[in-house]
Amino acid sequence: MKLMAAVLLVTTAALPALAQEPTAADLYRVKCQACHMADGNAPIATMNFADGKWIHGSKPAEIEKVITDGAPGTAMLSFKAQFTPEQIAALATFVRSFDKSLKPVKKK
Ligand code: HEC
Repeated sequence: MKLMAAVLLVTTAALPALAQEPTAADLYRVKCQACHMADGNAPIATMNFADGKWIHGSKPAEIEKVITDGAPGTAMLSFKAQFTPEQIAALATFVRSFDKSLKPVKKK
């Protein structure tokens, strides 16, 4: 019985690390970085987040829309099937932060 309790303790203690939600930075690294680069400073202007130019708009809602629906006819695909709306909002905040000319948006 004592052993059982010890095993249970070890298992539950290890769980939080495994079940931890990926951060926006984690999602970006896995899903976006290949095209948009680690620092958002992609060599192709339309894919660059750091040059102060946003073809689809720099407002959080506009950025969320591009991530959600993609940019039809380009390599930017829709991510709505892969992420929750919360994750998309977090990603929008994350990619926006590459543009130092933008003011950070207050948390709702
Ligand atoms: C296969 C390459 C590719 C991947 C992966 C990719 N994108 Fe894109 N993304 C693009 C391209 C190409 C464009 C430019 C679209 C255009 O010309 O309208 C773009 C545009 C964007 C824009 C609009 C930029 C602007 O100037 O308005 C945002 C925001 C964006 N991507 C976010 C993301 C996020 C977040 C991810 C990861 C979840 C991601 N992208 C993954 C290729 C990619």
